This record gives sequence, C-alpha cells and structure tokens, in this order.
Amino acid sequence: MQKRRLGNSDLDITVLGVGAWAMGGGDWKFSWGPQNDSDSVAAIHAALDAGINWIDTAPVYGLGHAEEVVGRAVKDLSLKPLLFTKCARVWNERREIGRSLKRDSIIRECEASLRRLQADVIDLYQIHWPEPDEDIEEGWEACARLKEQGKVRWIGTSNFSVSQLERAWKLAPVTSLQPPYNLLVRGIEQEQLPWCQAHGVGVLAYSPMRSGLLTGKMTKERIAAMPADDHRQRVPDFQEPRLSRNLEFVELLRGIGAKHGCSAGEVAIAWTIRNPSITATIVGMRNAAQAKGVLGAATLSLTNEDIAAIEGFDFRY
Ligand SMILES: NC(=O)c1ccc[n+]([C@@H]2O[C@H](COP(=O)([O-])OP(=O)(O)OC[C@H]3O[C@@H](n4cnc5c(N)ncnc54)[C@H](OP(=O)(O)O)[C@@H]3O)[C@@H](O)[C@H]2O)c1
Repeated sequence: MQKRRLGNSDLDITVLGVGAWAMGGGDWKFSWGPQNDSDSVAAIHAALDAGINWIDTAPVYGLGHAEEVVGRAVKDLSLKPLLFTKCARVWNERREIGRSLKRDSIIRECEASLRRLQADVIDLYQIHWPEPDEDIEEGWEACARLKEQGKVRWIGTSNFSVSQLERAWKLAPVTSLQPPYNLLVRGIEQEQLPWCQAHGVGVLAYSPMRSGLLTGKMTKERIAAMPADDHRQRVPDFQEPRLSRNLEFVELLRGIGAKHGCSAGEVAIAWTIRNPSITATIVGMRNAAQAKGVLGAATLSLTNEDIAAIEGFDFRY
C-alpha cells in the first residue's frame, strides 16, 4: 500500500490506518455499542496482512479497553505496526470522563498506555483535545519531555485550531494534526490544512466515512435499532433533517463507486486522501470483513467527473 512521510518524523505510513475507537466496546459515554474483542483482533490482523502499517487508538476508547485489545492483537507479531495513541482525556472510578493537560497527569497516562499496549515506546503521542485551553502549553511541554525521555517517538495534536497549533509550535515542533475530515465535515479546509501544509505538519484525517454514515451500509432502520449505548444516535448527521439528505448523498457515492468496482465508503475514503494536505486517513473497522471492505480506497483514483458530481451535490435540506 502507498506510504507517505508523516510531517517532520521519520515515519512512512500507509495512506490508510486502523482506527480503534469502536474497539473500545460498549457501556461508556462515547461507545459504539457492544463489540466482540475477537472481531477487533481479526480486523487488526486483516488490515496488517493487507499492508496497513499503523493503528490509532486512545486511552479513553472504552476507558482503557481499546488499548488493551490493540496490545493483545500485536503482542506476538514479528512485524509490529506503528502505534499511535493519545492523552488528555481521563476518567474516575465512576467511569466519568474528564479533561487534563496537567504535566503529572500526562506522565501517568503515558505509563498506563505503554502498559496496556504492552509496548516499550509509543510511535506518535497526540493531545486528544486541546482542553482546558489554558493548559495547552503545560500539556505540550509534558509531551515534549516524554519525547526527550524516549517514552514516545513523535508528538502530535488532535482537534487543534490554528491559534492553538501556533502556541504549541512555539514550544516544540508539531509532527501532526489529527482532525475530522470527510465529505460531510470539511471545516479544516479553510485554516488548518493550509497552515499544516505551510509548516510541514502531517495530517491524519479521522472519520473518513463520517463514522459509518457514508459506508453505504447505514440505513434509517439501522440507526433506529442501534443499541442504546451507540453514541452515534445523538450525532445530528445521523438525525433528521440531515439524515435523509446524507443518505441521498450516499446514493451518489454508491453510483460513483459502482463505476470503479468500489463501495460508497471506499469513495468517501479515497476522496479524503486525494487532498495533498492529507497525509493519511484513520479508518474505523470492527471485523475482518470491514477491514477488507475498505482497502479499495487506497488505490481508487477519482476522476474529474466524479469530483464534479460530488461537488455539485446540493447539501441544503
Ligand atoms: N481524535 C479524535 O477526536 C477522533 C475522533 C473520531 C475518530 N478518531 C479516530 O478515527 C478513527 C476512525 O473514525 P470513525 O471510527 O469515526 O469512523 P469511520 O472510519 O468514518 O467509520 C468507521 C465505521 O464504519 C463502519 N464500517 C467500516 N468499514 C466498513 C465496511 N467495509 N463496510 C460497512 N461498514 C463499515 C463501522 O461501523 P458500523 O459497522 O458500526 O457501522 C466502522 O466502525 C477512530 O477509530 C479513531 O481512531 C479520532
């Protein structure tokens, strides 16, 4: 699979990476409903077998569970993938999620992630959310310190605005930004992408299929029947009046995909990585079949006609 250099790092990463959010399983605030761990491990193995060379996870995904599953999946592999995780979302014994960019908290978080991932080093350590805003400098300095100590190899950001990126940049080089980017969420095109390109900062686009909405497999019936702990039901794009328009748009993607022997979801993913400011995209997958079902995106070349059809869609509702 095609690889690209991530920002100022020495990491050559495949254009698709494995996203482990849903692998965190059920029963927490931002869960995707129940998830079978064996399916998660099979998804990771299928992705790696197909040449994908990195996994993105976070401590908060399943309150430690996704990192444990990733650790278990890669433990005995002779060729290990690059491991990217995050900090700054913490939780208490009542499983309530909080935010912290305090130095001591980040150091504790890093140790816990290394233990759960069963790793000696984290390849990319990212501040998950720039919150609380006033502690960004303290958090970023803590990340830079962990890099100096060799606990993490490179440090990056996620969900940062340009002014927040600039504050971090003054203290230590930023390897990457991890923002949302897909056909329905394009806010970073105005400011973050030009800034990252100008500063040589890598971009890992998350939710390329709008968290499953653009796969071609999502229906109104499925959403209505989602388990109570699937947080996507609360997301406006999964609700009316946007939902009908979004599913109509998926039909356009399905038609484009059919011409290339690909699914609507693969068209959506391919669209994100054709943008030269995007280094790679993080694709969520819950089983081996889903992992295999997104691979076509890595080689799909959308035509000018495809792009014109996409840009011509009337997104009003
Ligand atoms: N930094 C952040 O704040 C942040 C935020 C969001 C995401 N992320 C990262 O980005 C990753 C990816 O984002 P995402 O998980 O939101 O979304 P995504 O890649 O847009 O969608 C993934 C979901 O689509 C469905 N799917 C995947 N492959 C499929 C296939 N072949 N056929 C049919 N359905 C398929 C699965 O859900 P269903 O089967 O349940 O429909 C899967 O969980 C996350 O795992 C995480 O690592 C980071």
